[in-house]
Amino acid sequence: MHHSHWHILGAGAIGCLFAQALQAHTRTTLVLRPGATHDDCITVRGESAETVIPIPCSYSSERTEINQLLVTTKAYDVEDALHSVAHRLRAGSTIVLMVNGMGLAERVRARYAQHTVFSATTTAGAHRLGHLHIRPAGRGETRVGRQHQLQPAPWFEAWREALDPCVWDDDIDSALWHKLAVNTVINPVTALYRCNNGQLAEQPALQALVASLCREASQISCAAGYTRTAQTLLSQAQAVIRATASNRSSMLQDIEAGRPTEIDYITGYLLKTADRFGIVAPQHRALFNAIKKSEERHIAP
Ligand SMILES: NC(=O)c1ccc[n+]([C@@H]2O[C@H](COP(=O)([O-])OP(=O)(O)OC[C@H]3O[C@@H](n4cnc5c(N)ncnc54)[C@H](OP(=O)(O)O)[C@@H]3O)[C@@H](O)[C@H]2O)c1
Repeated sequence: MHHSHWHILGAGAIGCLFAQALQAHTRTTLVLRPGATHDDCITVRGESAETVIPIPCSYSSERTEINQLLVTTKAYDVEDALHSVAHRLRAGSTIVLMVNGMGLAERVRARYAQHTVFSATTTAGAHRLGHLHIRPAGRGETRVGRQHQLQPAPWFEAWREALDPCVWDDDIDSALWHKLAVNTVINPVTALYRCNNGQLAEQPALQALVASLCREASQISCAAGYTRTAQTLLSQAQAVIRATASNRSSMLQDIEAGRPTEIDYITGYLLKTADRFGIVAPQHRALFNAIKKSEERHIAP
């Protein structure tokens, strides 16, 4: 068995969810901001009871080496968070980015060229109830990989055992793009109209907006070589809307809480890709601008 020790940077909803799963199969440590309170445990709310799970915590500022790092911050925090542990990474360390959206992996690879950067995406979910306190929100599939790497990394066996189901994906970029495309259709619209996902299938005006967003995103997907997304986006987006009808999207929750959103890494990345191919995507552009405006209003200094 491959002996690994995972450090998880970003001890929020997803970080604690993955810490809970991984700690049963491999050594796992949570990395916190200096000074954050910790009792070397997390609390997980189940159907009827809360479970306290011992997990060692370490401040980012400490010096012990990190060989395997799972990053689970919000997209806009990844670079600062990585910077805060850069002194602990040794040449050849593994970094897994489990962050919504796209565009970060390229930047992290360029900056941390001596490390190996993988990407991951999950349909599992969790809510953060408080500091190191979560409520899992449903099982889901996790996909992990590095574009074109056919063989799973040696540490992947522990992930396969810990996370059910967990798949090695040698075309992870297509998986990330597909999720991004679906997100560009659902997240900004629900955030702007302050509605749950199901409303997108119920209100005719929103149905029409979803359809035209899918047309634009399909054209961009096609130009960028993501054929499966180009061909299936509308039906896939409609299926996700049906399956998550009562959900309030993370972008809606961020806007309502006055937090920044991940729009730059979702619609922002779609629009950058559109620009590269000279495609105009007026509906996505309008949504992007509207979300940026409402972020500015809510995140006044
Ligand atoms: N929640 C879900 O169900 C879900 C599902 C799929 C994908 N995702 C994606 O997973 C990512 C994480 O989401 P989340 O919901 O888990 O967010 P979250 O609950 O806000 O957790 C992010 C954590 O990162 C920490 N953090 C930020 N900067 C840090 C730094 N410099 N050093 C140490 N810790 C730092 C935050 O601490 P502070 O509070 O101190 O800032 C927070 O604990 C996002 O990209 C999200 O879109 C989430």
